[in-house]
Amino acid sequence: MAPPPVPKPILSVLLLLLLFLSFHPPAKAQKQLTSFSIADSPWFPSDNRILVSPKRTFAAGFRNSSSDGFFFAVWVQKSSDKTVVWSPNPLTPVGSSSFLAISPAGVLSLNDSSGRNLWPNPPVGNSSNGSSQLVLRDSGELDFAGKWTSFAHPTDTVLTNQSLQKITLRSGSYQLINATSLVFNGSDQYWTADDAIRNLSSSGELLMDNANTYIVEDMGLQVLRRLTLDTDGNLRVYSLERSGRWRVVWQATQELCTIHGTCGVNAICQPLGSNLTNCSCPPGYEFGSNSSWDCQRKIQSLQPSKFLRLDYVSFSDQPGRAGTGEPQSTHVNFETCKSRCLSNSSCVAFSYKYTGTQDCVHLYNQLINGFWSPSTELATFIRVSSSERDESQFTAMTSMIATVCPVRVSLPAPPKESKTTAKNVAIIATLFTLELLAGILSFWAFLRKYSKYRDMARTFGFEFLPGGGPKRFSYAELKAATKDFSNVIGSGGYGVVYKGQLPDRRVIAVKRLKNVGGGEAEFWAEVTIIARMHHLNLVRMWGFCAEKEQRMLVYEYIPNGSLDKFLFPNEEVALGEDTTDESKKHLTLPRPLLDWNIRYRIALGVARAIAYLHEECLEWVLHCDIKPENILLEDDFCPKVSDFGLSKLTNKKDKVTMSRIRGTRGYLAPEWVIHREPITAKADVYSFGMVLLEIVTGVRNSGFRRSSLQSEDWYFPKWAFEKVYVEQKVEDILDSRIADTYDDQAHFELVERMVKTAMWCLQDRAEMRPSMGKVAKMLEGTVEITEPAKPTIFCVREE
Ligand SMILES: *[C@@H]1O[C@H](CO)[C@@H](O)[C@H](O)[C@H]1NC(C)=O
Ligand SMILES: *[C@@H]1O[C@H](CO)[C@@H](O)[C@H](O)[C@H]1NC(C)=O
Ligand SMILES: *[C@@H]1O[C@H](CO)[C@@H](O)[C@H](O)[C@H]1NC(C)=O
Ligand SMILES: *[C@@H]1O[C@H](CO)[C@@H](O)[C@H](O)[C@H]1NC(C)=O
Ligand SMILES: *[C@@H]1O[C@H](CO)[C@@H](O)[C@H](O)[C@H]1NC(C)=O
Ligand SMILES: *[C@@H]1O[C@H](CO)[C@@H](O)[C@H](O)[C@H]1NC(C)=O
Ligand SMILES: *[C@@H]1O[C@H](CO)[C@@H](O)[C@H](O)[C@H]1NC(C)=O
Ligand SMILES: *[C@@H]1O[C@H](CO)[C@@H](O)[C@H](O)[C@H]1NC(C)=O
Ligand SMILES: *[C@@H]1O[C@H](CO)[C@@H](O)[C@H](O)[C@H]1NC(C)=O
Ligand SMILES: *[C@@H]1O[C@H](CO)[C@@H](O)[C@H](O)[C@H]1NC(C)=O
Ligand SMILES: *[C@@H]1O[C@H](CO)[C@@H](O)[C@H](O)[C@H]1NC(C)=O
Ligand SMILES: *[C@@H]1O[C@H](CO)[C@@H](O)[C@H](O)[C@H]1NC(C)=O
Repeated sequence: MAPPPVPKPILSVLLLLLLFLSFHPPAKAQKQLTSFSIADSPWFPSDNRILVSPKRTFAAGFRNSSSDGFFFAVWVQKSSDKTVVWSPNPLTPVGSSSFLAISPAGVLSLNDSSGRNLWPNPPVGNSSNGSSQLVLRDSGELDFAGKWTSFAHPTDTVLTNQSLQKITLRSGSYQLINATSLVFNGSDQYWTADDAIRNLSSSGELLMDNANTYIVEDMGLQVLRRLTLDTDGNLRVYSLERSGRWRVVWQATQELCTIHGTCGVNAICQPLGSNLTNCSCPPGYEFGSNSSWDCQRKIQSLQPSKFLRLDYVSFSDQPGRAGTGEPQSTHVNFETCKSRCLSNSSCVAFSYKYTGTQDCVHLYNQLINGFWSPSTELATFIRVSSSERDESQFTAMTSMIATVCPVRVSLPAPPKESKTTAKNVAIIATLFTLELLAGILSFWAFLRKYSKYRDMARTFGFEFLPGGGPKRFSYAELKAATKDFSNVIGSGGYGVVYKGQLPDRRVIAVKRLKNVGGGEAEFWAEVTIIARMHHLNLVRMWGFCAEKEQRMLVYEYIPNGSLDKFLFPNEEVALGEDTTDESKKHLTLPRPLLDWNIRYRIALGVARAIAYLHEECLEWVLHCDIKPENILLEDDFCPKVSDFGLSKLTNKKDKVTMSRIRGTRGYLAPEWVIHREPITAKADVYSFGMVLLEIVTGVRNSGFRRSSLQSEDWYFPKWAFEKVYVEQKVEDILDSRIADTYDDQAHFELVERMVKTAMWCLQDRAEMRPSMGKVAKMLEGTVEITEPAKPTIFCVREE
């Protein structure tokens, strides 16, 4: 049989295709080397090849710099912009005739066009046995013959597991020296770590010599991270997202304006959003004609002179000294401070702190490192000619208060109108398939929120955009929003909480603080700090009000109420104290019982939020009042910790001594109650342990005590410990209402982790308790949990 004839049109297409192919050979494919050896030498920038790591995470090769030449570089192949993490010649681009080569003698060199070798510490391999190879590891490390590593010669970036010892990171005029200090211009220091940073661990901790750690926001394994000294002088940890984009998960300085060299001499740096700065001149000054950012006095002569007041502006007059540094004298009255400056012709300004210590700082000759921040709590009086007509623009600048905490710049949630009840019912029905469903639900909710948010941002301008900072509300606005403070939804140690609604329909919770000490400046400073705390599991603060004696904080409203209502639903009937119209309404709704998965998620979320407060943000913030009442639940039972930052804010290392006991009985750490020892973060760990035990047992620790006062086992943690470790009857301590849904296979691990972690948190001795970061890890299951010691009876302790 003859083959069917090929239709003519197809033939001609084939012919055309052949023709096309012969005239246009496909571009030569990029050659991927797994190692570079003598046989591959030389390697010119125009050679279309790269060196790849085994898993193709990293790649190395020549990169065309936009202007004049090429860099040899190692980059992250999986990131969308192929971020460079190392280069032998970061500051000296080479021409197209330069090349990378291994000489017959085994020397690795990057020769520029004049034959100079630009490779740092050019390594020598052994040419006779073939070991002289350049290879790229999956850690991003470039290795030559096992004798030389790029990790010892970093540029501006350090990767996971790379040691920071004996190295310097450089970026423009900025350096990280001794793995502790960020300096500008060689020695002008503006940030120091607690201690020398050792390395960035695989789980995302910056490990330090003194065993402290900085923990990144998305702590956990399997994430590609880098620590980079950016060109703006800040040190940041970035995580690579699935999308190939980088996300900032930690940064050294929260206030960019405290980075020296950001603005010029005599200039003032102000935050512009959360990640930008603006330089301006003080009144009486203007930018010089030269295109620098230096400011000059408009009228040179200071005879006679006067002072203009700049609120919250701070300067220093010597490199390396922070603006808010050591006062030259304290407890000086304002007039004395002023006249001392007037009497010295080189005194150009003085700073004065009204509150407390009445610090007086004189500044001579020049003003540098100027910045505006309410946390300085001082005013600077700048000396200008008496004939100067400029007026200070730095007065009462509340609108300037900006949030600067970097991580998770979360957007305020738009108004919700979803039916919480309907969702609750859904949750009961799908007790065990919830995890699966939640993914779909939250994605849907996200889409809805996102589009709504977009509209809202358009309607309300940029007022609520991230970085816009907490808004200052007037008393009248909040009075209107809360219908004259009519709807009480709770009350606690810090004041009464009202529900309200803003004109833009956002529902808010207004906390009217009582007994707030300090002046307005202090209050602003604290509010700014609270507003910096952004975490998925912290209640978001939207604004504040400070008018005359009134001090109020405006929070997002969390619909489901607090955890205690779910754990101890019967209490509400018994305790009349907190019962208000609002909670009565709630009473009529059947509250779903939280299943084991949700309980675990709540525990983990709370642990992470507190770890964030303790270890991550600008200051160490102790919560001091962790209890189920302060854990609010979102629609999807995502926990949100509230009331943080209201207790005294503390600096790292400092231990606080509290004059009066804060917190709630039953959750207070023994050392606090009995020994009146200084409070440390470990007190929060204890309180968290108690909450964790309550989450597992569904029993209030005080209730337990009441019901078993007669027996010897009245101390809740001790009872739980004995049940679990001595009698080996974990089932006995589980919440009896859902004990029968406990499935050995599905829940054993979660519940065991919760119980064991609680036992560690409840250790009598503070130093035995793990840090909150460790607690979160224990719950996550990323660290092994060893057997805890038995919590002994509260009051009895040796020594
Ligand atoms: C490098 O980039 C510049 C500008 O982008 C371009 O003009 C030049 O042709 C490029 N050189 C090579 C060798 O690709
Ligand atoms: C490349 O540089 C090395 C080190 O300076 C030198 O020994 C070598 O001769 C150079 N190669 C060429 C081809 O210029
Ligand atoms: C290079 O390797 C050869 C063969 O392994 C060995 O004999 C020689 O000693 C090595 N040279 C150096 C300098 O290590
Ligand atoms: C080559 O010689 C070096 C010592 O110079 C040695 O460390 C290496 O193991 C040798 N490699 C091989 C493949 O023999
Ligand atoms: C870092 O080191 C740890 C332990 O040595 C290892 O498990 C991990 O894979 C390393 N991570 C990277 C990115 O190299
Ligand atoms: C990182 O630092 C820690 C703490 O100093 C140390 O135990 C660990 O070995 C270091 N890891 C690497 C990969 O250098
Ligand atoms: C770095 O360490 C050296 C030696 O310990 C010390 O002299 C120097 O002052 C340190 N530099 C900074 C900026 O801490
Ligand atoms: C940097 O330091 C040098 C001397 O150490 C000094 O002359 C120069 O003015 C400084 N530059 C800046 C911008 O501070
Ligand atoms: C802030 O700016 C720096 C440098 O301009 C950038 O690298 C960084 O990603 C930004 N940070 C955030 C949180 O956007
Ligand atoms: C930034 O500073 C300049 C003065 O240097 C000022 O004119 C401008 O309004 C400022 N920009 C913003 C957004 O504040
Ligand atoms: C500005 O430039 C001029 C000439 O270039 C110079 O004489 C003057 O000192 C410069 N002024 C400042 C403040 O740098
Ligand atoms: C002004 O103060 C500076 C720095 O304290 C001092 O060196 C100088 O002698 C003082 N001048 C007069 C006239 O008192």
